[in-house]
Amino acid sequence: MRVLWKAVYKINVGSGMHDTNLNPSVFAVDLVNPYRTYVHDYPEVLFPYPQAAALQARLALRFGAAGTGQGRLHVELGAGSGNFLVEMALRHPQDHFVGFELRYKRLVRSAQKLEREDRSNVWLLKAMGESFHQYCPPQSVDHLYLQFPDPWPRASQWKKRMVSGAFLERLAQVLRPGGVFHLKTDHSGYFLHVLALLNGRQDWRLRAWSNHLHRDVLTQDGRSTDLLAVQVKTEFERLFISQHKPVYYLALEKPL
Ligand SMILES: C[S@@+](CC[C@H](N)C(=O)[O-])C[C@H]1O[C@@H](n2cnc3c(N)ncnc32)[C@H](O)[C@@H]1O
Repeated sequence: MRVLWKAVYKINVGSGMHDTNLNPSVFAVDLVNPYRTYVHDYPEVLFPYPQAAALQARLALRFGAAGTGQGRLHVELGAGSGNFLVEMALRHPQDHFVGFELRYKRLVRSAQKLEREDRSNVWLLKAMGESFHQYCPPQSVDHLYLQFPDPWPRASQWKKRMVSGAFLERLAQVLRPGGVFHLKTDHSGYFLHVLALLNGRQDWRLRAWSNHLHRDVLTQDGRSTDLLAVQVKTEFERLFISQHKPVYYLALEKPL
């Protein structure tokens, strides 16, 4: 299918020919971004326009609500090109992973990696990360990762940041007791924004944090951490490390 679309794309772009059998509006869009078509090539792992209710039912069946499922459920928001999810899926074949991402090309790249590595324990959703609570059954998630979210640095943009008071409420809804939210960012302002949201709240436990991940991580009991998110690096994380930029990290636990 992908090969066919590539060929059609080449013929049309290259020669100016037009195939009248194709829906012109769809075709016009696909000429601009052929990955809009490729996202349909991986029906087992990539869900391009998921219906929240239907997927929640499938998730509940597969993972089990409130502790009845086998294996842990990990969710990543803004999964990019999938490096973290694929590496995690390889390290933890008994666990289940769901990645939210908006960009077609990155979703397709992720699906290709899954195919190469023969992984079926990852689902990719083309859906807004903010809507994770509509897909994940209550108290089903063991780990939720947000890694290098768009920082929206200007004060006028702060309302667009993924983490907000409402986000924390939705997080509390889907995490199991003892479940952990992991944030990594290269943006000190974003890190401070999240710490400010947590200030004075008794309903979360700050389990670990760092203002220079990969150099030192502090935990509440002062010991080094074995948290999974610290061990596996994302694509952007590797880039920042290569540029000697600090990575800020926090792990927030929903108390038992
Ligand atoms: C800076 S990149 C980081 C990608 C990856 N987490 C990493 O660390 O390599 C941010 C990613 O979040 C995605 N993104 C931005 N807003 C989003 C949203 N509201 N829902 C889902 N994904 C989003 C972008 O398309 C992009 O791939």
